Formats: sequence, C-alpha cells, structure tokens
Amino acid sequence: MAVGKNLEKLFSLENKVIVLTGAAGGIGSVLAKGLAGAGGDMVLCDVAMDPLHQVEKEIVDNGDRAKSFELDIMNIESIKTFVDTVIAEYGKIDVLINCAGINKREGFLDVEESTYDKLMGINLKGVFFLSQEVAKHMIKVKRGNIINMSSHNAVGMLGGCSVYGATKSALTALTRSMAVEWAQYGIRANAIAPGHIITPLTTVTWEHPERSQYLKERIAMERPGTPEEVLGLTVMLASDSSSYMSGMMYHIDGGCLAGGKPWPYDTKY
Ligand SMILES: NC(=O)c1ccc[n+]([C@@H]2O[C@H](COP(=O)([O-])OP(=O)(O)OC[C@H]3O[C@@H](n4cnc5c(N)ncnc54)[C@H](O)[C@@H]3O)[C@@H](O)[C@H]2O)c1
Repeated sequence: MAVGKNLEKLFSLENKVIVLTGAAGGIGSVLAKGLAGAGGDMVLCDVAMDPLHQVEKEIVDNGDRAKSFELDIMNIESIKTFVDTVIAEYGKIDVLINCAGINKREGFLDVEESTYDKLMGINLKGVFFLSQEVAKHMIKVKRGNIINMSSHNAVGMLGGCSVYGATKSALTALTRSMAVEWAQYGIRANAIAPGHIITPLTTVTWEHPERSQYLKERIAMERPGTPEEVLGLTVMLASDSSSYMSGMMYHIDGGCLAGGKPWPYDTKY
C-alpha cells in the first residue's frame, strides 16, 4: 500500500470491536475517545459507571460508536457472563485492551495481605482470566489482538510500589505467553509501558514540590506525559499496521529509562 494518501486506512479501526477495560479512567477515557475516533466500535468497561456513561455520551455525541458495560474484573465469575454478552451482541471481539489497573503506594514492610490481594486481583488475575475468556472466542475465528497496559514500574522501580511493580512485571510476562501460545491462532499480544503520565490521580504527585522535582530529574524531557501521548501507539497496535508486532513491551516515557536528565557536563554550545 502506498502510504501517502492511505495513511488513515493504514491505522483505521473501522469494523473492529474493541473491548477496553478501565475506560472511565484518566488514560482509558482518552483511549476510548481516540480509538472511537479512528473507527473502533468501543465496548467500554469499568466499575465507575457515572464517569463511564459520560465517556460513552461524549463518543456517541461525536457521531462515533460506544456502549458502556459494568465489569469488575476482580469478579472472575462475572467475566464469562460479560464476554458471552458481548459476543451475543457484537458477534466478535477484535481487540482487547486491558487498561484497568490500580496502585497503592506504601513501603514493602507496610503492605497488608488485603492490599496485596486487591492489586494482584485487578492488575494480574483479572487480566489473566478476562484475556483467557476473550481468547477462546478469538481462537474460534483465528484472529485477535490483545494490548496490556503495563508500566514503567515493570522495569524501573519507584519506592513504595512493590506489589504494583510485581503485577506489571508479571503482566509483561503474561503478554509474552499470550504472544507465544496464541500466535498459532492468529492472535498477537503486546504491552504498553507508560512512564509518568499526568491524570487526575497523579496530579497530586505532580503538584508535590519534592516528588515532582524528583520525577523531572529522572525524565529526559523533564515533564510528565499526557494520556493523549499514549493514544498514538495504542491506535497503531490496535490496527493492522502492526500486524507483525507481537510479544513486546513498548515504553512511552519521555526518555526516563534512557537515563533521565543528564548530569552537568562541559559543553561549548
Ligand atoms: N497514570 C500513569 O502514570 C500510569 C503509568 C503507567 C501505567 N499506568 C497504567 O495505566 C492504566 C490506567 O491508569 P490511569 O492512570 O488511567 O488510572 P485511573 O485510576 O485513572 O484508571 C483506572 C480505571 O480502572 C478502573 N478499575 C479499577 N478497578 C477496577 C475493576 N476491579 N474492574 C474494572 N475496572 C476497574 C477504575 O475505575 C478506573 O476508571 C493502569 O493499568 C495503570 O496501572 C498508568
């Protein structure tokens, strides 16, 4: 395909049914609107129904397609019912984006079992069993695409994120297993690792004088990313333009892993 005039076609999500968890959240809501704008038929899932309906309304008011579904991915039994409902209504799921996730920042020694179980339950177990249930349908049609929202913490650890980081490292490993086991069924899987993205939940960190300074020094671009800056890669991975990409994790981090802000060095410029 000559790219020039076909750029839109290359990244088009027309006729793709896209299940997006965490669609009411800071990153999820922006992805929901952006993917719908690229033609995706959005199946929006979350536990926060008021903001989710608001996202759905904005998409529909814009002339795009979306519908809200209540899904608590910690409730494994409800996952099968949800997937069956989507298949009955839409006939297929082309793309699953596992974006729902939570964090609770506390020291390793302070983590209680209930916190551990909740983070593991949402960030890992829920993703595992939702992906398993969706993959059963993708396998039948020998076509599918899964995108997992991992994190910078999968590789570069901040203090106070032991359980969160473990879930995101494991999610990256799950992504590789999905890619390896399901390639034979035409399914590919990738992970996105956002760095420090500013959302309503992380605004408090970015307004904190010491923490924001600490973070800026570790990001070459010296600023947080925005949810909009996660959208482009997500559209690409969801579209057929990335048809030979599978099993990898892609970072969007403003040069954080690369080394952050350089130390003082002599330069003549
Ligand atoms: N914001 C960042 O800087 C950042 C960085 C790296 C990775 N991430 C990851 O990106 C994803 C989205 O993060 P965000 O910043 O938009 O967070 P967010 O809290 O704004 O959104 C998360 C969404 O998940 C939903 N959710 C929580 N528990 C759920 C459950 N049991 N079932 C279904 N939905 C549930 C919440 O209601 C919320 O709408 C998460 O997986 C997060 O770990 C975020």
